[in-house]
Amino acid sequence: MQEEYFFYNGVKFSTSIHSLETVNYAENEFVALEDDIFNVTYPKSGTNWLIEILNLIKYKGDAALSSKEPIYERSPWFETTQKDKVDTLTRPRIISSHLPIHVFAKSFFKSKAKIIYTMRNPKDIFISNFYFTKLLCALKNPESLQEHLENFLQGDVVYGSWFDHVKGWLTLKDDERFFFITYEELLQDLRSCVVRICKFLGQELDDEAIDSVVKHSTFKTMKENKMSNWSTMPSDVMDHTKGSFLRKGVAGDWKNHFTVAQNEYFDSVYQEKMKDFNVKLFWE
Ligand code: PPS
Repeated sequence: MQEEYFFYNGVKFSTSIHSLETVNYAENEFVALEDDIFNVTYPKSGTNWLIEILNLIKYKGDAALSSKEPIYERSPWFETTQKDKVDTLTRPRIISSHLPIHVFAKSFFKSKAKIIYTMRNPKDIFISNFYFTKLLCALKNPESLQEHLENFLQGDVVYGSWFDHVKGWLTLKDDERFFFITYEELLQDLRSCVVRICKFLGQELDDEAIDSVVKHSTFKTMKENKMSNWSTMPSDVMDHTKGSFLRKGVAGDWKNHFTVAQNEYFDSVYQEKMKDFNVKLFWE
């Protein structure tokens, strides 16, 4: 299957995942409910990890849902062709999205709904995404890592520029409805991150429930759980012979892939694009 693209407000979307109608719906017609919780990320930043964590928190550590419903149905993306699944969620709805802020649901900004925004080192995002293009049948397989690197740094990829995504969303960093966390913090101390997320959501979980959230959202548990590892995705959509959705789950894998020149190129583009950004990021 050859991927085709369209642009919406300057952002690239894939016709196998989105349509003009679904993206327009997400921006202009979708009605955010007061208790909605949005799981917002740039692709490959830890979206599914947060789906697992947030649903476990919602059910106070009870993992029953994690063992019976595929992860991509527990918290669907409201801008994709799967958008109608959002209507079947029980409240509070946990809704995923990769949309940049400038095309996000207008109704969110007038609501009391909350956003959890997860960020990850863009070099690791890039590598994760590179492997994902091999796995997802609809995505165009880049000729080389170098070709994909150029597209990524120019924002010529589905959901657009990582730089614009992060800079846009972090304008909300002081908003009380906005919670910012990084993939690397989750890796470093999952338990304390779960506690912080519970606090932000106003969810009181006892120690046993917190332990259960942590236990069921580790990389190992998710990779072994067929409802969390995407192995239930039909093979004409995802070629399971080409790798796993839960691939490595580490920080710094880019070091195993980048040449010195590619790393310098990435850093120079990064510095240029982020020079007007005054939030200090941990990998800088
Ligand atoms: S997507 O396609 O945009 O929704 O992908 P996303 O879920 O954002 O990111 C996929 C990467 O997240 C890793 N992942 C995890 N890492 C550590 N622990 C846990 N529990 C976990 N769950 C998902 C997943 O392995 C992908 O990263 P890579 O580097 O490819 O392994």
